[in-house]
Amino acid sequence: MSKQLIVALSKGRILEETLPLLADAGVEPVEDLGKSRKLLFDTNLPDVKLVVIRATDVPTYVQLGAADLGIAGKDVLLEHGAAGLYEPLDLEIARCKLMTAGITGAEPASARRRVATKFVNIARRWYAEQGIQAEVIKLYGAMELAPLMNLADEIVDIVDTGNTLRANGMEPRELIAPVTTRLVVNKASMTMKHARIKPLLERLKQAVAARREDLAG
Ligand code: ATP
Ligand code: PRP
Repeated sequence: MSKQLIVALSKGRILEETLPLLADAGVEPVEDLGKSRKLLFDTNLPDVKLVVIRATDVPTYVQLGAADLGIAGKDVLLEHGAAGLYEPLDLEIARCKLMTAGITGAEPASARRRVATKFVNIARRWYAEQGIQAEVIKLYGAMELAPLMNLADEIVDIVDTGNTLRANGMEPRELIAPVTTRLVVNKASMTMKHARIKPLLERLKQAVAARREDLAG
């Protein structure tokens, strides 16, 4: 096993909030991630490299050991499953909720409910736990459109301010899970590269705690 540490970062929304935390923990890319078409970046630490990939691909990279560490939303981790992964740290960023939602004022369909979502595993599990019969319809985006177009009765999606739902005549219904961004570690790497991972983990923990204290004012 190489002595290098590869850290897989979720591009998009999480990336902007991840980089300052990594910097506080002493890891900084040597070039501007936003300005490059590159996907693999050197850092100020010779043995740490960053890859920037789709959020949904992060658990796969870490689970299969192509990356030692990863940073991904709890929503993505719940959908993917946690086999082969440790989840040692909540980075407390990109806070939002996984919820069901439907057209404002409409009664939830009483018979078999049609549910549009990109989180098909989470949705199947949750409706089964509630004892609600559901037909889960996989979409890749714009879930809020599905009930308006009568493609579905309900959606399962991320809710933060609720603005996207409101703008589309919808309301949040049930909370499925609170979501924040997590650090995940490949289980074999945690053993084989423990001496290298542990101090980085400690510094990240301190960075998260310092930020929490700052926010508490
Ligand atoms: P992809 O581009 O791979 O389809 P995506 O569009 O879901 O992914 P982002 O919108 O950047 O990617 O979201 C990445 C993560 O940020 C989500 O997995 C979730 O954990 C979190 N997130 C998404 N929407 C919000 C939001 N409105 N507020 C806070 N956090 C959010
Ligand atoms: C996310 C998510 C919701 C929205 C919720 O979309 O998919 O649509 O945020 O946030 P709100 O409750 O504050 O409106 P995003 O803005 O990331 O766009 P996306 O459709 O590209 O994922």
